[in-house]
Amino acid sequence: MGAGTSPIHRVAVIGAGAMGAGIAAQFANAGIGVDLLDIPGTGSAARNAPAQAGLDRQLKTAGFMHPDAASLVRPGNIEDDLARLAEVDWIVEAVVERLDVKRDLYARINALRKPGSIVSSNTSTIPRSELIAGLGPAFASDFLITHFFNPPRIMRLLEIVSAPENDPALVARVKTAAAAILGKTVIDCRDTPGFIANRIGCFWLALGVLEAKRLGLSMEEADAVMVALGTPNTGIFGLLDLIGIDLIPPIWGSLMQALPADDALHNFDLPGDETVRALLASGRFGRKSGAGFYRLSPDKSREALDLAADDYRPRQDPAPGIGRDALALLKRDDKFGRFGWRVLSGVIHYAAAIAPDIAGDLGSIDAAMTLGYGWAQGPFALADRFGATAFVSRLAADGGPVPALVQEAVQRGAFIDRRGGGLATDGSVYAPALSGSLLSVAKDQAAAVFETPAASLWDIGEGVACFELHTKLNSLNPAALDALETALDRVQEAFGALVIGNDDKRAFSAGADLAFIMASIEQQDWERLDGFIRRGQDAFSRMKYAAFPVVAAVHGLALGGGCEFALHADAIVAHAELNAGLPEVKVGLVPSWGGCTQLLVRAGQDATGPGGPATSAAHVFQTIISAAPSSSAAWARVQGILQPADEIVMHRDHLLARARDRAVALAQAGYRPPEPAQLRLSGPSGKLGLMAGVNSQYELGLASQSDLAIADSLATVLTGGPGSYPNGVATEADIMQLEREAIMTLAKSQTTRQRIAHMLATGKPLKN
Ligand code: NAI
Repeated sequence: MGAGTSPIHRVAVIGAGAMGAGIAAQFANAGIGVDLLDIPGTGSAARNAPAQAGLDRQLKTAGFMHPDAASLVRPGNIEDDLARLAEVDWIVEAVVERLDVKRDLYARINALRKPGSIVSSNTSTIPRSELIAGLGPAFASDFLITHFFNPPRIMRLLEIVSAPENDPALVARVKTAAAAILGKTVIDCRDTPGFIANRIGCFWLALGVLEAKRLGLSMEEADAVMVALGTPNTGIFGLLDLIGIDLIPPIWGSLMQALPADDALHNFDLPGDETVRALLASGRFGRKSGAGFYRLSPDKSREALDLAADDYRPRQDPAPGIGRDALALLKRDDKFGRFGWRVLSGVIHYAAAIAPDIAGDLGSIDAAMTLGYGWAQGPFALADRFGATAFVSRLAADGGPVPALVQEAVQRGAFIDRRGGGLATDGSVYAPALSGSLLSVAKDQAAAVFETPAASLWDIGEGVACFELHTKLNSLNPAALDALETALDRVQEAFGALVIGNDDKRAFSAGADLAFIMASIEQQDWERLDGFIRRGQDAFSRMKYAAFPVVAAVHGLALGGGCEFALHADAIVAHAELNAGLPEVKVGLVPSWGGCTQLLVRAGQDATGPGGPATSAAHVFQTIISAAPSSSAAWARVQGILQPADEIVMHRDHLLARARDRAVALAQAGYRPPEPAQLRLSGPSGKLGLMAGVNSQYELGLASQSDLAIADSLATVLTGGPGSYPNGVATEADIMQLEREAIMTLAKSQTTRQRIAHMLATGKPLKN
């Protein structure tokens, strides 16, 4: 949703620290204008220096999806510019965590703000009731807590605390805007300390550290067990190093102080732990100070703290065979299995016991842990995989009471139902799922139109089908191309439009199956390789010129062949977080499934287009030779992968629905396949121009012989090679033929073979 259709046209953020400036940047990323106010600069500093500094930090730390978005943020200060608040629809307060400072500010805000404007606080610890005390009913009606996570661009969770006195329409407006503009998944929290994520997250980390010590696991072992359960790769000790050991006393201390004496967090006193105290006393605060639980030794080798001795030793390979299978781990009858069980069952026990006080349903708690703490699955979904009944039997066998909500879930068969909705915390019903895409709904309703091991076709309603890849990272292998051919037939028979996309967390498609290409090269089976290239070109071209509209819904990785797949759609709807590009040169190849051709078409190479052929070839050459995927959809637009009419969507879960809307709109507008492109080429003289820069890099020793050969092949494709075309105008088929010739030549070279082998073995490019 852009500013035009949103109920939010302009916002103000007060406090330009890590959070405030990050929140301002995320609004700007969605095209919304922001006033960012901080205290005035003192001494000789400019009045807006503190706000400007916050803005500059966001530019340095990639808070903006594209630097141009920063121009939407207007820095200011709370002495000179507070009157600007009268112009905005939403005021987000993100100043220091001090009740007196926040309340003083609210009184001033209240006198100036537009009636009915939203006021929200990013507080992490102060109850809503205390923040608004004495500010009157109108303020109370418009005020809520919106608790973002750091960094605000990346973390998808937004916790909201509202109250019955809030205007329900205003709360609904906040939720809609938070999802559509900011891309956040919103969870409702009660007004309790730490809300949901930090309450459970702090308990998890404290329990994990203290249980690891009690059961005698090393940090590496404990962290490996946590990773097997699906928590982030840092594990618990690595995560605490990242958060900062110095923040343990304020965060855990204030949470413990705010919680009642019988809260189970008091049984796991992290600030009081002697290892934590020793780290604090010696200034070892984690990554920010170079040492914490882990450190890099003076000779740069990785070391870990020996928990028993408070001394560092080389970091060890944790334990053979811990693996990544959560269920297998929980069933192990050794210290790893016992530790994993203790932590997971402890978190679930705690969460289920306090759930009625903090949340409306268990799905909110799972979402808090997946979106706020990076767990692959929430604790309750994990318990369901274990089997709710088996889980509770083991919990009961451990002794102690089983929380009522756990018993209720066992009666009903699951904590989370089949549709992803969590059991309500009063045990009455399952709530609707908090998130989910159009595809997950379709999968719940009916079987696939057809399904192969590589891909499926789904009916996603309104006459639209969705082609979903499900190979590893959704790479395109021969079986995936077979499935695409079948899908095109089926859509032609029974649907009005096609969406290509999926719900994978990481990739739209990471590209052509490199292992298949490598096998063909090793066997010198050039016919097979050429056949694979030709089939991809044919299938994608067929898709482009099909009688129905095709919309690509791209997100995450859309690389190489995956990017080329999307480039053949009539329109692209992109998630804002998009890494799209054609990095083939890194493995010694050039894009050959029509990628060069379609980028030329996009660059206005059309015979009737405005750009001269040399200029647009240079733009495409630069995009491909730099081999740098976009860091966002905004960058993909600059690179020419997305076109001006292609839509960017902020919320990942909305992507397929918006792609379907676009497909329906194209179909209803009387869709006709595009006219075949006619490409004007710059020929041998254009090629000389393209190569000039690379040649001088080679002379300076900045490019290798193989870089030169790859660039030469690419330049040949983009300028039309030695061939002559009627009236100097080539067809897409002509350029695709050049693509094929180029890749077949490169595939036979030793350096390309080395590059591919290195990429397959290490995941990293080889410079040779
Ligand atoms: P910070 O210390 O980085 O930034 C606070 C900013 O507020 C500073 O730039 C300061 O100059 C400014 N400020 C102080 N008094 C002000 C006033 N009267 N008017 C305008 N500006 C004023 O703090 P951070 O980390 O950005 O936290 C801000 C808020 O967000 C706090 O309430 C914190 O509890 C909360 N929060 C912090 C998270 C984090 O990970 N850092 C996560 C979630 C919430």
